[in-house]
Amino acid sequence: MERKTLIRAAIDALPTAYTPYSHFHVAAALLCKDGTVYTGINIENAAYTPTVCAERSAFFRAVNEGKREFEAIVICGGMNGQVSEYCAPCGVCRQVMREFCDPAAFKIILAKSETEYKEFTLEELLPVSFGPDNLREPDTAEGGCPHADV
Ligand code: THU
Repeated sequence: MERKTLIRAAIDALPTAYTPYSHFHVAAALLCKDGTVYTGINIENAAYTPTVCAERSAFFRAVNEGKREFEAIVICGGMNGQVSEYCAPCGVCRQVMREFCDPAAFKIILAKSETEYKEFTLEELLPVSFGPDNLREPDTAEGGCPHADV
């Protein structure tokens, strides 16, 4: 899928952001390896902490639909829905991406417009990370479960 198409999907989703408190709109468009796209917007909450970011909205929609393999995500955002700066994903969203995506291959695209964007790998934005591999049982005979005595 062309970058332009994925960026357009994110920009089109921006007005739906529910941001009565910060007024900072964020939208994401997540491209699955099978070519499907899930958009997400930030959804704020009067109690603040239940707020969910656009990136996690998109991931959770996709994972709920059974998707597990992802290629790229576009993120855009700005005050009152005006995209003037690049909007980078928060640390929690980077960690959610780490759960499902290959850090060296998954692309995070920060977009200002269909033609103005910056592209990173997940590894660039979340170096030396903790992921599913860390919880895998060691397969050596002398290994044993790292949590056996916990
Ligand atoms: N926000 C996102 O949706 N994604 C991010 O990665 C950064 C922050 C949202 C959360 C909140 O609704 C607003 O931006 C201001 O923090």
